[in-house]
Amino acid sequence: MDYLKLDESDMVTFSAPVNIAIIKYWGKSCQKLNLPMNSSLSLNLNQDHLQAKTTIATSSTFIKDRIWLNGKEQDVEGNTRLQACLKEIRRLARLQAVKRNEDVHRVTRCSQKVHISSRNNFPTAAGLASSAAGYAALVAALGQLYRVDGDLSGVARCGSGSACRSMLGGFVEWVKGGKSDGTDSIAQQFVGEEHWPELRVLIVVTSAQTKAVGSTEGMQRSVETSALLQHRVDNVVPDRMKALTDAILNKDFSAFAEICMKESNQLHAVCQDTFPPLRYLNNVSEQIIRFVHAYNEHCSDTRVAYTFDAGPNAFLFVLERHLSEVASLIYKIFGPATDNATDFFRGERFKAYQSDLP
Ligand code: DP6
Repeated sequence: MDYLKLDESDMVTFSAPVNIAIIKYWGKSCQKLNLPMNSSLSLNLNQDHLQAKTTIATSSTFIKDRIWLNGKEQDVEGNTRLQACLKEIRRLARLQAVKRNEDVHRVTRCSQKVHISSRNNFPTAAGLASSAAGYAALVAALGQLYRVDGDLSGVARCGSGSACRSMLGGFVEWVKGGKSDGTDSIAQQFVGEEHWPELRVLIVVTSAQTKAVGSTEGMQRSVETSALLQHRVDNVVPDRMKALTDAILNKDFSAFAEICMKESNQLHAVCQDTFPPLRYLNNVSEQIIRFVHAYNEHCSDTRVAYTFDAGPNAFLFVLERHLSEVASLIYKIFGPATDNATDFFRGERFKAYQSDLP
């Protein structure tokens, strides 16, 4: 009810896109600051269909910070990532207000508590990672509310590493940076989504279950036990990043597809090399991988590429001209094999939407 009494300037709403990693982030060089061992690059989906939307209100009458996710109130005190974002944005707000010679409390309202409401516009049950988009929307909204200028991807990174990439659209690189305080570990747009409009993504939800080992814990276990991870960071990712950015610039689907699939495979090889091993793919994911290779071979042309993050759901890249054939084949073969066939998404360009399929 407090919201009804607020001025417009006391309440802001921001949305942010879900991002799909092509060059994967897996492993931190600093857990406290969420600094990655390697740079990564993602493709960010069009927000019309997959986004997190966050509304934040502030008032002098609020007595504590509160947050609701999809309508359900969550603990704030014990949420160290959320606390880190709030602390950092308030610190920046104070710093900038002092620089502008403003009255800190009056202009930035840094001392006031916030009420945050965040929603996804896709079913949470779909099992698609939403925390990256959620933290990005949260940080963008806090930045506006507290009048913080400049790059905020470093603040989003404090919430969840991959969230920094959701602060921008199109193809986005998270540059690992070299400074120990993490100030140069930020996201940068590589090219906007208008660069390659023919590129589409199909999302196949093979399971809506939450994973047994979350990314944060899983990657830390890999850092501690996988020899392959360090090899990947030192010898594989730098060349792949260069080859991928070239492929994107040249709109070379075949080169893009190969790097994309090899990256996904290496992430899951590192997971297998972790001790005890991590298994994120399920049997349907494995069948999708086999299908993609068989289909590309059958076409004598690379038409589809898969990638999987730390979960069993497949992200399939196709060019627009092959979308309907691939979508109907995938649905015919795998639709009934998924946990819930209605949780099957079909993408158009960087959009994805729930759809009645043929
Ligand atoms: C496999 O960003 O969720 O999706 O920084 O601990 O919050 P934290 O991890 P998170 O890890 C994402 C891992 C990944 C690959 C990627 O998005 O690059």
